[in-house]
Amino acid sequence: MRNSRILGVGRCVPEQVVTHADMSAYMETSDDWIQQRTGIRERHFIGEDTGASDLGVVAAREALDRAGVKASDLDLIIFATLSPDVDMPASACLLQAKLGVSGMPAFDVRNQCSGFLYSLSIADNFIRSGTFEHVLVVGGEIHSTGIDLTTRGREVAVIFGDGAAAVVLGPSDRPDRGILSTHLHAEGKFAEKLWLEEPGTRKAPRLTDEILDAEDPGFFPHMEGRYVFRHAVTRFPEVIREALEANGLTVPDISLLIPHQANLRISQMVASSLELSEQQVFNNIDRYGNTTAATIPLATRDAVAQGKIKKGDLVLMAAVGAGYTVGASLWRWAY
Ligand code: ACO
Repeated sequence: MRNSRILGVGRCVPEQVVTHADMSAYMETSDDWIQQRTGIRERHFIGEDTGASDLGVVAAREALDRAGVKASDLDLIIFATLSPDVDMPASACLLQAKLGVSGMPAFDVRNQCSGFLYSLSIADNFIRSGTFEHVLVVGGEIHSTGIDLTTRGREVAVIFGDGAAAVVLGPSDRPDRGILSTHLHAEGKFAEKLWLEEPGTRKAPRLTDEILDAEDPGFFPHMEGRYVFRHAVTRFPEVIREALEANGLTVPDISLLIPHQANLRISQMVASSLELSEQQVFNNIDRYGNTTAATIPLATRDAVAQGKIKKGDLVLMAAVGAGYTVGASLWRWAY
């Protein structure tokens, strides 16, 4: 068996920076409220006519360039997103066309904040088994067009931002380098704690005037914020410990934890419960907000660019999100 390693990373965030002062123009909120509760300073929103695959393809081209891999040499394209360009077909297929290639399989993974780690595990298994040599995994989200930017939706709206990042994976020449193990879980019984109800297949027709005119419309994400918070600070340490124990390692062995960027306070509580130092945890939510499936590759890209990951480091990526889904991916860094 061989391992998978990252050959290159790339990112794309829209140019438009949206500050809390900008948010205050849409809703009753304040810089203090948002910073104190979430650690977010600003986020990026797209302009018009941009889909998740438009951000994804820019990130993908940068990752391919850095990897020295041609798009035509990709064996598989996976796109992790909860905000695909359209309901069908997959954003992965749209991105493939934008890359100017054809033929290799392409599909989306719609698993919210854990979507990138679920996608990585699929890519890793294809590479480990020798089926594929080069896999592109993209995490990309456009939240700004799907959130309620009024006071009614402020609890959710201030958290999310738009962005994409991508990695190109290939086989590791050393069995002790690359992805060491992956750990995935789901608890569907908590689905309604954080969900987007409409339009859904349960109703015919799927979208009616009644749904559109509802006082608290189901086509905006609904979140039980406090519940999400408590769940995250429990599940994060559990899955992190599970990944370490599976490899005979302990918390002090971690060189860098890259947690899903849900809320800085969640990351800080997880760090404190595991007794991780500030240097052992990477956070960039202050600049982007929560970009769901894009947060882990975006943070990985920034950590690499800032020289925070060195060859041989033990890197742990972990995510908790809607579903509820949970994931961890443990790496011995190979490049
Ligand atoms: N600006 C100003 N006031 C606001 C805002 C806002 N944007 N949003 C809510 N408020 C108000 C509320 O209306 C409430 O007012 P009231 O007391 O008059 O009723 C007050 O602030 C307090 O609201 P709470 O909901 O009690 O605030 P809380 O301290 O719980 O913080 C928050 C809310 C930040 C959403 C928190 O619960 C949280 O971070 N939860 C986790 C959310 C998360 O991480 N989601 C990411 C997606 S899932 C994932 O990635 C794991």
